[in-house]
Amino acid sequence: MTSVEERVDAPETGEDHRRWSSLYPELGKGPIDTERFISEERLDEERKLIFSKSWLNLGSVHDLQGNNSFFVRDVALLGVSLLVVQDKAGKIQVFHNVCSHRGNKLVWEADGPCPYQFACRFHGWGYKADGTLASVPDEEEFFFEGDLPNKSTLGLVPVRTEVWNGFIFVNMDKDGTETLLEHLGPLGESLQDFPFDTLELRYRYDVPDDANWKVILDAQNEIYHLPMLAPLHRFLGGGAFSTNEDGYTRLYDFERLGIHTVYTSDSDAEWVDTPLRTAMANLHPEYNVVKLPNRGPFVFHVQFPNMVIGFLGNFMFTYNIWPVSVGHSVWEIRMHYPKAKTLADRVCQDLMKVRFRDLLCEDVTGHAALQIGLTSKARPEIVLGEQEVQIRSFHKNVDDYIARSTNV
Ligand code: FES
Ligand SMILES: [Fe+2]
Repeated sequence: MTSVEERVDAPETGEDHRRWSSLYPELGKGPIDTERFISEERLDEERKLIFSKSWLNLGSVHDLQGNNSFFVRDVALLGVSLLVVQDKAGKIQVFHNVCSHRGNKLVWEADGPCPYQFACRFHGWGYKADGTLASVPDEEEFFFEGDLPNKSTLGLVPVRTEVWNGFIFVNMDKDGTETLLEHLGPLGESLQDFPFDTLELRYRYDVPDDANWKVILDAQNEIYHLPMLAPLHRFLGGGAFSTNEDGYTRLYDFERLGIHTVYTSDSDAEWVDTPLRTAMANLHPEYNVVKLPNRGPFVFHVQFPNMVIGFLGNFMFTYNIWPVSVGHSVWEIRMHYPKAKTLADRVCQDLMKVRFRDLLCEDVTGHAALQIGLTSKARPEIVLGEQEVQIRSFHKNVDDYIARSTNV
């Protein structure tokens, strides 16, 4: 347990901050091309060589309603609909959401308890929660004989599924051999003992976003913009992070965790608070005390390729950024909190939700503006500073992953 006050004098926030480029010389210092954000060919590569091969997070057990429930996740980039089922015994398995008869999309509801059978709307074939084909109307008229497909071979098609700390992942590469733990690598190890099970999913937003998926991630994967983006960031967010004497935010720490990354920031001791935050502190004497066992009050993990696990104070946010086309994505935002014990807990959580949501609304407008500028091709490159090292690292990870996949 670390209070904000105990961490504010961290030396890394001083003038000795330009060290990431020397610590990770492989990242370089040069600009990166803008083509990666606007090119159809590049998205096609990402579809084939990243999203069709890497472990992808579809959400968590919180998106289910417990044993014997389901949710559906359509992944537009891959042209698939996936049915995530938790059976009566608690086992979670993902299937292609496709009827084996003539290929109808099987389940059209977003989520809910498992029905007696998942019944196809076209001709009524019924499937159990374990994917087996249980009933075929007018079965005698089918040729379930000899070597022909029959009821035992016409169950739902499973997708490689693994669950880590409640997070549900799939891998669409049926020939792939990498396990989820191997994929998560040092990121998984660093969060393995985190008490995820003490948090509850309280708010979820699925935001249509007019930007390339990497533009969205990059815009979240730094705190450089916090004191500048106006009006909300400047008012609600900027002062919450450590700054140098000129008011520019400073990373507290950054680390490459295999193909994933983490960065942290501290809160600023000299921060003149907003009335909202002052009200929250008055409501709750321990408001500024970080109780979750974290690296600090703000921690931002990028779980390659398109997920973020972040912590701000005592709540966890996750992002799943799903490309739809080159310039369009869906930004899934989930906010998780420890169980509220008092009314004051609950009010603080709701106020934090509003504050965070408003900041992210301002970000969405910014994402679209970035995409417009990049698409114009006015400049062939973007430039990154030392305080944007995590973006540089992300793009190197993307490039390396594509190169590796190409050579397999
Ligand atoms: S397509 Fe599903 S029952 Fe015919
Ligand atoms: Fe922002």
